[in-house]
Amino acid sequence: MDRLNQVLRRVPVWWVYVVGLLPAGLVAWQAAGAIDPVKAVEWGTGLWAVRLLIATLFVTPLRWAGLNLLRFRRQLGLVAFAYVVLHFASWLTIDMGLRWSQILPDLVKRWYIVVGMAAFLMLLPLALTSNNASIRRLGAQRWNRLHRLAYPATVLAVVHFMMVGKVYTAEVLTYAAILAALLVARVWRNGPRSLVWA
Ligand code: HEM
Repeated sequence: MDRLNQVLRRVPVWWVYVVGLLPAGLVAWQAAGAIDPVKAVEWGTGLWAVRLLIATLFVTPLRWAGLNLLRFRRQLGLVAFAYVVLHFASWLTIDMGLRWSQILPDLVKRWYIVVGMAAFLMLLPLALTSNNASIRRLGAQRWNRLHRLAYPATVLAVVHFMMVGKVYTAEVLTYAAILAALLVARVWRNGPRSLVWA
């Protein structure tokens, strides 16, 4: 593991952005060949947002196991948020055609949209404060507390995913199980307060 950590220390962090662009290319390519390209973009960006949010939460338990990816966590979280923004933007534009008379009622009427929106609004302050100036301004302790919002936000994201489908597929249950295992591991190691603003 030490050898791997040494190699990783030499990898520039901006590589996360380069690799993070690849799923966007895949989603565009799949949408181009899809019967319903709008849904393909909406589902593809949503799916990658969930995957990358969970991957970001994996950085800490992997460190407990000896693999240090901490240097890449900020970039990974920002790439995850970029997919959330693309997902939200695709709903607003290509799906709803910016028809605000339809969008605004949907934001409060459809429960899966309310839950998705709550996840988005929780992630927004995290993305905005993912810089060194914010860490200095807030202080490390307050900044860390704020960034624990990543846990409830990811839970809401997975709940949103579960609410979208009419049946629970193996895929959505797998993400829910991985997230549950991650939360249990964190509570087991650091106590329940490690998941909340406390
Ligand atoms: C953290 C935020 C979010 C995440 C991670 C997320 C993720 C997902 C996922 C994984 C899917 C299902 C993809 C599939 O079935 O393969 C989905 C579907 C969808 N999401 Fe989100 N979402 C988020 C926020 C939002 C927001 C803010 C909105 C709109 C305000 C939204 C609107 C939708 C819509 C319209 C669908 C498709 C429903 C359908 O099948 O017709 N999502 N989302």
